[in-house]
Amino acid sequence: MNSENLESVELSERLHLNYSGVIEIHPTETWDQIRLKLKSCNEKFVRKEPTINDRLLYELHCMSCHTLDGNKKIGPGFADLRTRKRTVTRDGRSDIVTTDEQYVRESILQPQAAIVRGYEKPNRMVDIRKTLNKKQIGALMKFFIELKPKE
Ligand code: HEC
Repeated sequence: MNSENLESVELSERLHLNYSGVIEIHPTETWDQIRLKLKSCNEKFVRKEPTINDRLLYELHCMSCHTLDGNKKIGPGFADLRTRKRTVTRDGRSDIVTTDEQYVRESILQPQAAIVRGYEKPNRMVDIRKTLNKKQIGALMKFFIELKPKE
């Protein structure tokens, strides 16, 4: 028992609180009572919701591999994400795609479905569904779908 949070401890007659904070219960006992009076606490209970701030999500989960300008990192830069056609490999075949909403969605949810030319190896994009919840993924989707090309 951690007495730091306790105002007082009331034990029924045959219970005994020993010096190391352990309540000893007699083996023949079938009914005992322990009343703990807790210290009041000013801290509010705050539930921590995972962030849905799109910019922050990008910084935490995507920025290590993608820039928002044209610079390549481990993955392509996003400056022209919505404006330039891509050559991708899909099912082992080369294909030219427009980066419409559906393509952006697929790139995020199933990054291995269509691999951008030049990024076949060795670093693969992670499956973000393992680390982010639905709301977070929704926020990120919106961010990238609405991404304007850099002037
Ligand atoms: C470990 C590195 C890594 C991380 C982290 C990562 N990606 Fe990727 N991403 C890649 C690579 C490599 C490619 C290119 C290969 C491919 O098409 O899958 C790519 C491709 C993409 C594409 C297609 C880009 C294009 O030019 O067509 C999008 C969109 C994308 N990623 C979004 C994201 C988002 C959103 C996140 C964060 C939630 C993210 N990525 C995190 C490595 C990463």
